[in-house]
Amino acid sequence: MLSNKTVVVGVTGGIAAYKAAEVVSRLKKLGAQVHCIMTEGAQAFLTPLTLRTLSGNPVMTDMFKEPVKWNVEHVAIADLADFFLIAPATANIIGKIASGIADDFLTTAVMATKGKVILAPAMNVNMYNNPIVQSNIQKLKQLGYFFIGPDEGNLACGYSGKGRMKEPEEIVDFLLRLEKKDLSGKNILITAGPTREPIDPVRYITNRSSGKMGYALAQCAQRRGARVTLVSGPTNLDKPQGVDFISVETAEQMFNVVKELFEKHDIIIKSAAVADYRPQSYSSLKIKKSETDMQIKLERNPDILSFLGKNKGNRILVGFAAETNDLKENAQKKLLNKNVDLIVANDVTAQGAGFESDTNKVTLYFKDGAEKDIPLLTKEKIADIILDEVLMLNNKE
Ligand code: PMT
Repeated sequence: MLSNKTVVVGVTGGIAAYKAAEVVSRLKKLGAQVHCIMTEGAQAFLTPLTLRTLSGNPVMTDMFKEPVKWNVEHVAIADLADFFLIAPATANIIGKIASGIADDFLTTAVMATKGKVILAPAMNVNMYNNPIVQSNIQKLKQLGYFFIGPDEGNLACGYSGKGRMKEPEEIVDFLLRLEKKDLSGKNILITAGPTREPIDPVRYITNRSSGKMGYALAQCAQRRGARVTLVSGPTNLDKPQGVDFISVETAEQMFNVVKELFEKHDIIIKSAAVADYRPQSYSSLKIKKSETDMQIKLERNPDILSFLGKNKGNRILVGFAAETNDLKENAQKKLLNKNVDLIVANDVTAQGAGFESDTNKVTLYFKDGAEKDIPLLTKEKIADIILDEVLMLNNKE
């Protein structure tokens, strides 16, 4: 699946360097031409011989050695790359690339490449959370560099937290997804996150949605070539790269944006957890406590999905259903009543599924009565599966 593609794999000095061997081996099995570059630090963890044997090509380690094949090797290898993967990517290499430093083979080659650059960070959790590292990552993301991971877990340094390099299988999968451009020409509108319904200047009603499911959909659709508009309630997530991003707070605001934009889109995916009710009145001053109980009267919010179901025309409309009981019955009711083409049903009580987690487990219900169980997978993988189904529905129209 990667035949005719060249992947340059840069390896930097971290314990996760040993996993680079498996990344290279997997890329070769998929038919890619692989060229490896190792920093001095990387060679303390893994030998160039290992990567030379697995890639079938000489490994670049030194700017000033006699060239093996090319005249100016770091430029030649940069030119070859369809993908330029750095795994593991230490805080040091991220900082160097973000600062425009080119002082060894890897940094000069990555600066010269026109291929897609993908970084798989691996480091101590406190290093990863350091604001300098975070700002370097943000800067590179804005410049179009791709990041995969890191994951949370036990780290080699003895700490636990975010900093583990993604597994080789997931890294290679990521490259395959970048390669797939099957959604190009499609305009996709995605809603994500919770809404916030204000009570007074300091309080609001909301729910547990983190936005992860919707942001994963937006990022995967964008990578697969779609033009994506993401309408998001308040979350703590970074904006996905390359999507048009509109931030809203309340259900009413989300409704107004969606009403204005949906006609320009071919596909609409409503993964947001929209509040069904909002306080009937808003107090412009902080409500003071008193000795008695208090009641807040709630009124209905607009049902955005129902509005879209009535007005969708030939557009593909995907709704979500977050359920705690009678998943199938409730999801199928929403499918019919709201006139959607596909409902993605979550049992939000299941371990590792629904709100906040990095994983999800869903069942897809289609208009023609078909259903598909999707096992527990990362939200990115679930997003890709949903997009595969959407594409099939779109091709049937
Ligand atoms: O954000 P995460 O932490 O990753 O969690 C993901 C998720 C659990 C939020 C997501 O997978 C999910 O299930 N989203 C839908 C949550 C929800 O509001 O479900 P619902 O069954 O209440 O609503 C059904 C559908 O109607 C949804 O598509 C919803 O966007 C839509 N709706 C609901 C109410 C409303 N007033 N307007 C709407 O459009």
